[in-house]
Amino acid sequence: MTTLNDYFQNYLTNASATNKTEIAAVINVIDTITTVGKEITELLRKGALADIHGEAGAENVQGEQQKKLDVIANDLLLDALTANKYCAGVASEELDDATAANDSGELLVLFDPLDGSSNIDINMPTGTIFSILPYHNQGQSVSNNDFLQKGTDQLAAGYLLYGSSAMLAFTLSEILDINNDGVVMFSLNPSSGEFELVKKNIAIEENTKEYAINASNYRHWLPPMQQYIDEILAGSTGPRGKNFNTRWVAAMVGDVHRILCRGGIFLYPKDTKDPSKAGKLRLMYEANPMSLLIERAGGASTDAINRIMDYAPTDIHQRVAVVLGAKNEVLHVKHLHNL
Ligand code: AHG
Ligand code: MN
Ligand code: MN
Repeated sequence: MTTLNDYFQNYLTNASATNKTEIAAVINVIDTITTVGKEITELLRKGALADIHGEAGAENVQGEQQKKLDVIANDLLLDALTANKYCAGVASEELDDATAANDSGELLVLFDPLDGSSNIDINMPTGTIFSILPYHNQGQSVSNNDFLQKGTDQLAAGYLLYGSSAMLAFTLSEILDINNDGVVMFSLNPSSGEFELVKKNIAIEENTKEYAINASNYRHWLPPMQQYIDEILAGSTGPRGKNFNTRWVAAMVGDVHRILCRGGIFLYPKDTKDPSKAGKLRLMYEANPMSLLIERAGGASTDAINRIMDYAPTDIHQRVAVVLGAKNEVLHVKHLHNL
């Protein structure tokens, strides 16, 4: 049994003088997020008894109604991370602008404090997503612009899944991953209160027959996406020559977790409902961190055509279309968009 603490200690032991400081900082920040994840797990376990259900009565900058737990999870992460000496600033789905933490810190943290908010009140899976970036202006107070770095610049990314058990999945960037562990998963042991390593070097199969999409948006999609789903629905006698199965958790963390565990493709495509929005999901604290996990596990992550982690961001809350998972399936979607 390897606890998260053992795991991190081993990393520090193996780190060389050149990367030790950066690895120590990243590990410390992940540890802080994980500690908050345990608190959120406890609240979710108590459910209605902890007064976490229902609306908070306010809207976030995205114009979405905040749930009570969106606000609680955001406040817990904000307090914990701004107290972490390595963290220079944070940006969150639930905060209009970046918040400064410690000017001497070398890291920026972006998070979706509670992903899958529509699942909170019905006792279904939710999660927390995080992305860690380097901070380049140490000594100065952070601004939104400091966060506008590409997904390829991420030092680490991951999520906590609050499902029938609580899990932590994360990956360090290829450079920092000195042990070559790729994507790792830990499970929270309720008896000890410790996260314990359950899997490492997670790899996604290149082909799949399982897809995740909210098909109620079909009429708003662009023609290539409609064609993709039409072909899938035609099953073994259609152009794909095989039968597919749908799964939709309504929390991206849940859908990505399933793909990391048993493969598949997840799509939240661009639609024409609101032309000012490129998609529903947010680049900086949903799409980029999930893209790092998916790519490090051998999958692909695109907006249907271009690689998500190559986007040069212009806004911390910008939205992006998302097509990620099994490499060949993602390539097929791209092929249909390039016809
Ligand atoms: P959030 O709860 O952080 O706003 O994110 C919800 C997102 C994502 O997790 C999920 O895949 C998607 O919205 C669900 O969308 P539908 O409501 O269309 O099912
Ligand atoms: Mn979300
Ligand atoms: Mn959220």
